[in-house]
Order: sequence, then structure tokens, then C-alpha cells
Amino acid sequence: MMRIILSAAVSADGYLDSFGGERLVLSSPEDWRAIYSLRAECDAILVGAETIRQDNPSLVIRDPKLRKKRLAEGRNADIMKVAVSGSGKLDPKLRFFTEGEGQKVVFTTGKVSSKLSEAATVISRPELTAVTILVELRKLGVSTLMIEGGSKILSMFMREKNWDELRLGMAPILVADERAPRLVADGQYPPMTLVRTERLGQTAVMHFVNRSQHRIDCNYVARAMHNSLLCEPVPNRYSVGAVLVTLDGQEFDGYTGETDPTNHAEEEVIAKALAAGADLKGGTIYTTIEPCTKRKSKPESCSPLIIRHGLARSVFGLKEPPKFVDNVGIETLANGGVEVVEMPAFAPEIIEINAHILK
Ligand SMILES: NC(=O)c1ccc[n+]([C@@H]2O[C@H](COP(=O)([O-])OP(=O)(O)OC[C@H]3O[C@@H](n4cnc5c(N)ncnc54)[C@H](OP(=O)(O)O)[C@@H]3O)[C@@H](O)[C@H]2O)c1
Repeated sequence: MMRIILSAAVSADGYLDSFGGERLVLSSPEDWRAIYSLRAECDAILVGAETIRQDNPSLVIRDPKLRKKRLAEGRNADIMKVAVSGSGKLDPKLRFFTEGEGQKVVFTTGKVSSKLSEAATVISRPELTAVTILVELRKLGVSTLMIEGGSKILSMFMREKNWDELRLGMAPILVADERAPRLVADGQYPPMTLVRTERLGQTAVMHFVNRSQHRIDCNYVARAMHNSLLCEPVPNRYSVGAVLVTLDGQEFDGYTGETDPTNHAEEEVIAKALAAGADLKGGTIYTTIEPCTKRKSKPESCSPLIIRHGLARSVFGLKEPPKFVDNVGIETLANGGVEVVEMPAFAPEIIEINAHILK
């Protein structure tokens, strides 16, 4: 599962910066040291294009001890740098691109200059959401991601509830200018849980966590997606991945055709859980595609199977398209007392994995 850490410093009245002019320094030297150590623990750091254009940060790890530690762990001394820029308008001469040995990645919705393509790995998608970005970063091997703003980026990840920890430094400074960027834009955000506070010089640092069920579900659907990549693409069969999580926290992974070509991913994980003597009642089954209700190869389809074993929740990314059958998994499960959660943000990637059928 990917650990996503948001990191920001704000003034005592909640601003990320002043309006215009030089970047406002909000972290004390002690706070900066802690931020650098945290960065060095991560695989990648992500920032928005406006922060890169305005502040020209290098985001390299300078402390020789931290560099040495990363090398000893078998990692690059520098962290992977990730930029998000819908417009693709980023000058490759900025320090983001010219400094540090780590991989540079740019997410965009359009085309970028050939010079920028030479300076970074460019990933273009029609629309950029937190999920789209996270799916691609996972493919690049990122398991710990630090997100350092600015406001638009933090808003996107917090609105989509795709974060685990927020490290928020507060400086004894008042900006008091409503033209300045705030921590997040206007919108609706779920409550956070405060777990720790500390004083680092003149910065008060608050540590929050996101305990929402949504975040937990996102992680497991992403894991199911990863499992689905193990399926051999077959023209008459979807590549589906699954994870079953029992109430006491046991986890079982599987994918369609894992032990028998006619087995669906749901059957694989349920069989593994039963073989391990796990109690399935009240558990959750995560799948990439909606559990089936009609099939030729077996008498029992996956939705009745889930109901029969007393699973309480079924969470999936893509409603089964009407390609082979008109599936009614959602209705069948709900009628059987199972809570059904569809996470359509994952659908584009699941369609991509099933391009052998759906494209
Ligand atoms: N105090 C702190 O901890 C801290 C940390 C970081 C930044 N900051 C401050 O934050 C301010 C910048 O914040 P900001 O909100 O203006 O900008 P930002 O979040 O740094 O970057 C916004 C830009 O990112 C791209 N972007 C974001 N979401 C996107 C999406 N869903 N699809 C496509 N593109 C997307 C767009 O780039 P394009 O314009 O290229 O399309 C957008 O204009 C600066 O003043 C900076 O100093 C403070």
C-alpha cells in the first residue's frame, strides 16, 4: 500500500505564502531539518507546477548523512521528483529539472515541449486526479510519497481523501491578506484526526492522520488492481484482481485464473481464506470489477457466493460493462444485505488493464 504524506507550513492565520513577492519562509531551521529527514525517507516528492514556477525549488537531498543512508538502503541518493502541470508549461531550466540525480516525472493533460520531454518522464492523461497520479506512481515503484503543495495540489488530494498523514507546521506569523494562497481552496473536506503535536524552534508542528474508510478502501482496490496484472489476458475473460480482508484483519490476495482457468478472483480469495480457517463473516471483498451474477462455467456466480459466506462489504472499481452479460451484481449483493461501494475513480485504469476486451 502506498503511504501518502502531505507536508505544508502555514502562517498562524492559515496561509501558505504571502501574496506576490519573495516566497515567505514559514519553517524554522529546526523544522526544515525534520522536513529534510522525512523527505529522505520517501521514494518521491510531488509538487504543483505553480510552486515550481514561483519558488524554483531544487527538492534535492543535500545532507551527506541522509544521502549516505539512502545509498546504504539501495536507493538513489536523490528522491524522485514529480510535477503536476495541466498546461505542461514548465521551463526545463528550472532547478526541479536540472538538480539532483533522481528521476523527474511530469504529469500533464496536454503536450509538452521536446526539451521538457528530454528533461523528465512525461505522463499525459486526459484528466488528472489524485487516483490517476497515484496509480502511475505505483507502477514506477513509489510506495512512500511526500506531497508538498501548493494549495491546488493539497486541495485535490484532500478533497479526494487520498492521503494518510498531514504534517502541518504553523509559524508565528500573520499574513492577513486574502489574496494569498491558503492551505486548501474552498470546498468540502472530511474531518481529520490529530495524533501528535511538537515544537521545533518557533514552528508548532501538528501531525494529523486520515482515518476515513474511503482511504482504506482506495488502498485495497489499488492492491486488487495490482493483483489483476498477474492475470494472463484471455479474449473471453476479464483480468480481475481481488483482496479479501476479514474482520480480524487477515488479508488474502488472488486473481482470476490463479489456480484454475475457470476460477474468478472472488473464488480464489474465498478459497484461500477458507483454507486458512479464517472467519469470513463481516469481512470485505475488494475486486477490480463488479462481482458477477451470471456465468456458464459454474453453477454459482460470485455475488451469491459472497452473500453465502456472510461478507459484509463488496468494494470494486468498475461496474461490469454489458459485453458478455448484463450483470446485476450491485443489485444482487445489496438485496443480499451486502454493502456495495463502487469506486469509479479507478475505472479508467481497470479498463486499460482489460484493453484486450474493452478496447
Ligand atoms: N508553505 C508551504 O508549505 C508551501 C508548499 C508548497 C507551495 N507553497 C506555496 O503555494 C503557492 C502555490 O500554490 P498554488 O495552489 O497556486 O499552485 P500549486 O498547487 O503549486 O500548482 C497548481 C498547478 O498545478 C497544476 N495542477 C494542479 N492540479 C491539477 C489537476 N488536477 N490537473 C491538471 N493540472 C493540475 C496546474 O498546473 P498548470 O498551471 O501548469 O496547468 C496548476 O496551476 C505558492 O505561493 C507557493 O510558495 C507553500
